[in-house]
This record gives sequence, C-alpha cells and structure tokens, in this order.
Amino acid sequence: MPSLDKFIVRGGNRLQGNITVSGAKNASLALMPATLLASGVSRLSNTPRLRDISTMSTLLETMGVRVKHPGTVLELDTREVKNFEAPYELVKKMRASFYVLGPLLGRFGEARVSYPGGCAWGPRPVDLHLKALEQLGATIEIEGGYVLARTKRLRGADITFDISSVGATGNTLMAAVLAKGTTVIRNAATEPEITQLAGFLSRMGARIDGIGSNCMTIEGVDELHAADDSNIPDRIEAGTFLAAAAATGGSITLENVSPQHLTAVLAKFRDAGCDVSHTENSISLNAPDALQAVNVSTAIYPGFPTDMQAQWMALMTKAPGTTTVTDTVYFDRFNHVPELQRLGARIEVTKNTAIIRGVERLNGATVMSTDLRASASLIIAGLMAESSTEILRVYHIDRGYEAIELKLRNLGADIQRVDSEDY
Ligand code: UD1
Repeated sequence: MPSLDKFIVRGGNRLQGNITVSGAKNASLALMPATLLASGVSRLSNTPRLRDISTMSTLLETMGVRVKHPGTVLELDTREVKNFEAPYELVKKMRASFYVLGPLLGRFGEARVSYPGGCAWGPRPVDLHLKALEQLGATIEIEGGYVLARTKRLRGADITFDISSVGATGNTLMAAVLAKGTTVIRNAATEPEITQLAGFLSRMGARIDGIGSNCMTIEGVDELHAADDSNIPDRIEAGTFLAAAAATGGSITLENVSPQHLTAVLAKFRDAGCDVSHTENSISLNAPDALQAVNVSTAIYPGFPTDMQAQWMALMTKAPGTTTVTDTVYFDRFNHVPELQRLGARIEVTKNTAIIRGVERLNGATVMSTDLRASASLIIAGLMAESSTEILRVYHIDRGYEAIELKLRNLGADIQRVDSEDY
C-alpha cells in the first residue's frame, strides 16, 4: 500500500543556496537489470535512494539477486539468479521493470515478464521492444497477460526503430551484447541514460561502437563479467530545482550536475530572463522577479525533455502573455493541467499543446498528484502561489525525487510532509 503522505507548501519564499543533485533514476533503472547479464558482484555508485530503485531491487531479488544499498552505493550480487519472471504486481508499479526482458533473454534464453498496462497519462506501448527482440531471434508469445520470450541463442540483426525509444533501445542493447554476431541499432535513443548504460555494458566486456550516437553497432560476445560504475547526475531532478528557483525569483547553485545534459533546458531558462552560468559540474541560476513567456516543444534528446514539460508549464502560469507548451513525445501527458487550474492557472489544451495565459497570481488549494513529474509541477506552482497548497498522494513524487522536501527546505522553501497517519 503506497504511503498517502501529503505536502503542505506555503508559497512566497525565494529559494537561495546550494544543493547536490542525486544520481539519475532512469540511468539506475537501466544499469540495475544490466547486471543480470553476468554472474558476479557489481557496485553502482551515485544510486539515488528512491521508491523506483527499491521496486527494481525487489524485482531483482525475486530473481535471486542479492541487493545491498548502504548510502548511495548499490551492490548487486547476481551469482544465484534462478528465476526469470517479472510478476504483474511489480511491473504494474513501475514500467521500467520491463527492462529485465532483454538481459534475461540474452543470458538465460528465457523470460516471463508481465505485459505493462497503460500508465497515468495514457497508453505506453512496448511493440518496439518486442519487434526488435524477435528480430534478434526470440520467440515471443503473450499468454495470461505475460510476455513469454525464448531463444536458444540470440543472433545479431540490423534493427531500425520507427520511433526513437529509450526503453526499446535499452532492452535491445542489453539483449544484443550476448547475441551471436553483429547487431546494428539504427534510430537508437541518444539520451544520456542510454549512453550511461552502453558505457556500463562496455565495462562488463561488451563490444559496442557508436555510443552516444543514434546508430550503435554491437559485436556479440560469449560472456560478460560483473563491473562497477558511477552513475550520472539526474538531469530532470536538476531541471526541477532550477524551475523551483526560477518560480520564486530565487538564486541557487546545483552541485554534482552535468550541464552538458541540460543544454536545451538551460537555453529556455535564459530565454525566460534567468541569468544562468555553469562550470563542468555545477550550474548557477539567478532568476528575475518576473519571468518572460517562453514556448517549449518537447523532443527526444538533446531537445527539451518531456520529463520537464509539466514543471515548465507551472513556471509559465504567471508569465505575462501567452505561452504554448507542446509535447511531441507523449501526446496525452497533461494530467497536471486540471490541478494547475485549481490553483488559478488559465490553461487550455488542444491536441498535444497547452496554451497558457499568464495570470497575476495563483492561489493555494488542495491538489492531487497524478504522476511523478505532474507532482513536481504542483510543488513548483505551490511555491508560486499565495497562501498554502496541499498536495495529496506524494508517493508519486517519492518514486523519483530523493528527499525533495528536505532539499527544498534547505533552500528556504516552506514545505512540510504530513504523515498520512497524522491526518
Ligand atoms: C523513458 C523514461 C521516461 C521518459 C521517456 C521519454 C525511463 C525509465 N523512463 O521512458 O521518464 O519520459 O523515456 O524521454 O527511462 N513507444 C512506442 N512503442 C514502444 C516504446 C515506445 O510507440 O515499444 C513510443 C512511446 O509511446 C513514446 C515514445 O515512443 O511516444 C518514446 O517513449 P520511450 O522513449 O520508449 O519512453 P520510455 O523508455 O518508456
């Protein structure tokens, strides 16, 4: 049963100070199942302590992996993996569970993984994952809500994705590294989390060319070995804190961050009137009292990330004039709109574009978290609103932000978590 804690945010405080960005959730969620590809002990440092990471740990434990997570180093011992199933109860909690399919198939030649359903903002298909695995020689059947995949040994293939997909690229890459022969993945995702995964697989002994580009060539090997790696910083957590600072006319410095992963996002903050500077691993943002309206359209990397769309929309609710926010990656990702409207925002959605007409003030209200990034947008709006905003179902935010209320409080925000048992 997820916790029903809520947040109470009192708006108006300017955020100021320094915070350290945690390791990237979405990179960890790919590196963890990748350890299934070899027998041994791998250590992944800079792994954030999040609910999604615990869910992935539980899933790997059901397969026989021993997991320890003291501090931020995650240790995975894959010497006794014996169960190749990802049950419905875990996949329905977190779609990234589907990432175990490729490595199980690659190393053990079989996997039984619950077919993911839709998610909070609509259908999220896995057709590209399955088609690519079939091209690598797997037999795939859907039975009783499960994907049953089998092979004697995968063989290399030339795969072109119709759509650039993070998950399908990750799954195919993890399957192909142990296939016999050469695999080419065209129109591969180039998101930093995939680059991180490909780097980790190389450390495990995989032979991959074209890492970081949209065409990777993989020479299959017979065996991989366990390896250690250090995770990249979470670019979406970083962007969310920048948005929180910008929302309050604040001034913050992020540490342990990779500015090169945030080029499109930083450009938008500059267009909105923020003063942004960076070093190799820090970003400083100084926000003006009032932001200018800046349109965004999400795109695959290195474009503006869909995972920052909701936060940007919250920021624009008070920008004078009209702003448009278009999501070209997920056409239905607008669950935050009715909640932002409860705070007084003026937003209309037509197809995959939200049109935001800036208002002078937002007023605190009770709002509901519906998914991870929608919840982040509600916190940002709460920081901009007058009086207090109550955000229900913060378990969504605990999936992907490590101690967000503590980090925000350290910057001067007035945000409290109220334990569900206390209300
Ligand atoms: C990952 C991220 C998620 C982010 C998304 C886009 C993780 C754990 N999650 O999700 O936070 O919002 O990338 O950057 O890393 N598609 C298909 N068929 C498929 C797979 C995808 O049509 O088989 C479509 C999707 O509906 C979507 C697009 O491809 O329109 C991109 O989705 P994808 O990159 O696969 O997202 P995820 O890997 O699920």
